[in-house]
Amino acid sequence: MPVGRYLKEGHTVALSESLDSISLGKIVVIREQLMKAQAAGQTVYRLESGDPSFSVAPHVLAALQAAAVAGKTHYIPNDGIPQLRAALRDKLRHKNKIAAVTENDIFVTNGAMHALFVTFSCLLKTGDEVIVPDPMWTEVVENIKLAGGVPVGVPLKFEKDFEYDPADIRARITPRTKAIFLNTPHNPTGAVLSKETLLEILAIAEAHGLWIISDEAYEDVLYAPNEHHSIAALAPHYLDKIISVYSFSKTYAMSGLRVGCIVTTDSVLQSRIPKLLRCTINGVNSVTQWAAVAALEGPQDQLAEMRDEYALRRTLLLEALQGIEGLRPFAPHGGFCLWAQLDPSLDARLGCSSGDELSEWLARQGIGSAPGDAFGVTCHDAIRFAFSCDTEMVRSGAIALRRALTGQTAASAAPLAESRS
Ligand SMILES: Cc1ncc(COP(=O)(O)O)c(C=O)c1O
Repeated sequence: MPVGRYLKEGHTVALSESLDSISLGKIVVIREQLMKAQAAGQTVYRLESGDPSFSVAPHVLAALQAAAVAGKTHYIPNDGIPQLRAALRDKLRHKNKIAAVTENDIFVTNGAMHALFVTFSCLLKTGDEVIVPDPMWTEVVENIKLAGGVPVGVPLKFEKDFEYDPADIRARITPRTKAIFLNTPHNPTGAVLSKETLLEILAIAEAHGLWIISDEAYEDVLYAPNEHHSIAALAPHYLDKIISVYSFSKTYAMSGLRVGCIVTTDSVLQSRIPKLLRCTINGVNSVTQWAAVAALEGPQDQLAEMRDEYALRRTLLLEALQGIEGLRPFAPHGGFCLWAQLDPSLDARLGCSSGDELSEWLARQGIGSAPGDAFGVTCHDAIRFAFSCDTEMVRSGAIALRRALTGQTAASAAPLAESRS
């Protein structure tokens, strides 16, 4: 099987059969191991999963409560309440610079996860190939497979700052290629695509008549001087073939409230999406949608505070992982994950010959992580640490991590960056 091919050509399966080929996820296994250890009284550091530690802003909570008290608890329009679609339209026009978008092009979903499921299900025919970065947040590949599609991985390289290389994308195009999937900022590496790279990817898509699916769930988690660019803003002439996906989970720490959206101007998709929304969720939770309106229309100063806090956590983890033999950390440009490449000297020192073994070894010491191969077929020699848990846990987790990886004692461990607060 060629690198990055997950399903044999021409192989067709029903949804239930596709589900049998999907695991419950390596990160879930590690998370459950840590939660058990925590329940047994062990100190644990939750660096395995990416759930923002921040609280939902008071004005957003107030809107949620007010909506419930006002009886806005009944069925709502399938595609989203008009007030939220209008607020999203304004945000997309002004912040993302997608000038031509209207409220009719926006479909409110149960988070970006559901947006991806709906997008792939509405777009793909069995056997259609979708080019994806490798590594990639696992659920993207799984949602492509659920829709009968074939994910084709493009290995990302440390030497190129994990940028999605347009030449590598071009090399994987076949007569069955339907779409190029991109994610910026990227989970798990933290790479951010430059405007130039986006324009090159756009040119490839145009030359081959391909769709672009752009997952921008982390658009607001960035480290200076990096900037976020929405590919749809760069391509008014190609807008019909670009599907953009957004989320409130990271920007507004609303992960449990489950709200996101799909943006598409294509008329066929616009006729299919409402059918799948009706048959899967019949509209996103009404009070959540009112909270989302308040998040978009209210003060945005929490975003800068959140970014500063993530920057501090990033420094803490980076400092802890610097200069450790056998481990090469990548300073993320965006997102809240730190990706590190492993080399064979780690096996000689710690007896861990893969990200999987290292992740299990760390979990036994109460330190969470996610093995590289949870994210792609070429990533067995990598590991991911998430820094979305609170800053004190990241600080103490970073110290524990350095001690474990270097065999230092508590007294000789190097001091780490001071907290601002
Ligand atoms: C790249 C990427 N896209 C989408 C999502 C889904 O976010 P949600 O469903 O919470 O909106 C995540 C969640 O971690 C993610 O990492």
